[in-house]
Amino acid sequence: MSEDFRATVVVVGSVNIDHVVTASRFPEPGETILGIEASTGLGGKGANQAVAAALAGAPTTMIARVGADPEGALARDGMAQRGVDVSRVTEVEGASTGSAWITVAQGDNTIIVVSGANFSWPEGDPLSGAERNAGVVLSQLEVPLPVVHAAASAASKADALFVLNAAPASALPDELLALIDVLIVNEHELAVVARTEPDPPEQAHAVLRERGVRAVVTTLGPEGAIVTDFGGVTTRVPAVPAPEVIDTTGAGDAFTGVCAAKLATGTPLPEAARWGCVAGSLAVRAAGAQDSYPDAETLRREATLTTRTSQ
Ligand code: RIB
Repeated sequence: MSEDFRATVVVVGSVNIDHVVTASRFPEPGETILGIEASTGLGGKGANQAVAAALAGAPTTMIARVGADPEGALARDGMAQRGVDVSRVTEVEGASTGSAWITVAQGDNTIIVVSGANFSWPEGDPLSGAERNAGVVLSQLEVPLPVVHAAASAASKADALFVLNAAPASALPDELLALIDVLIVNEHELAVVARTEPDPPEQAHAVLRERGVRAVVTTLGPEGAIVTDFGGVTTRVPAVPAPEVIDTTGAGDAFTGVCAAKLATGTPLPEAARWGCVAGSLAVRAAGAQDSYPDAETLRREATLTTRTSQ
């Protein structure tokens, strides 16, 4: 049975080309080590989340800035091939497409982003009408804060849910927190945004709700996620174990994109987070970010398998 996606997911966010080196361990500062292999892939937290949502079946529009360079064209084409509407991905003359420099080692990764065109936005409302059919407007912190704030205001006026994945972590002003319907963070980001100890997460969630955030999801990697919903009820969402972890890059984006796609169908937040955990688990089983994301059929199959084995 196909799902009823009445509303679109609109992503206002970043587009990067990922340059990945795999190594047996991370180098110490000042140290040179030999890597195992190097590769290039499509990334950027915004683009990754848009692709994850589109592959899950949600009509998805990406609003982003890329350079007028071959990398920008590559990133746009890659998103379009995976079902994302890229008509609002704008080329910026004189700027380079964003790039990310990633080391994958010891089951983890480090990432340095060079923002390039992701930080070249005109003033004003980045959505300019795209929010009209949106069920969810989704953003991250790889674009300037005023752009995120303007997207949140437009979403609120259009009665769309505003979902913020506060990555990379940054302290946020209370005026922005008050516009967030669903905040999605990992434990490190939770501590930075809530300006408090992240453990236990439900206490940090309560701090954020007092400051105006309506609902909070903290992803816990192999431990699943913890969700405090719109009514203030906290639920633990179990992890979906992966038989083998190949590359965790972009797993959080797979979680967020699929969670947003499910919210756009009216799925309750804890259930949407359950789907996010399935997507995150599938994403760590293959190399790269967008290249590792499941389509709707694969998601459904894995979710069914997980439900059966947990009964
Ligand atoms: O979350 C993973 C992403 O972070 C990578 O694709 C990289 O581009 C950075 O934005």
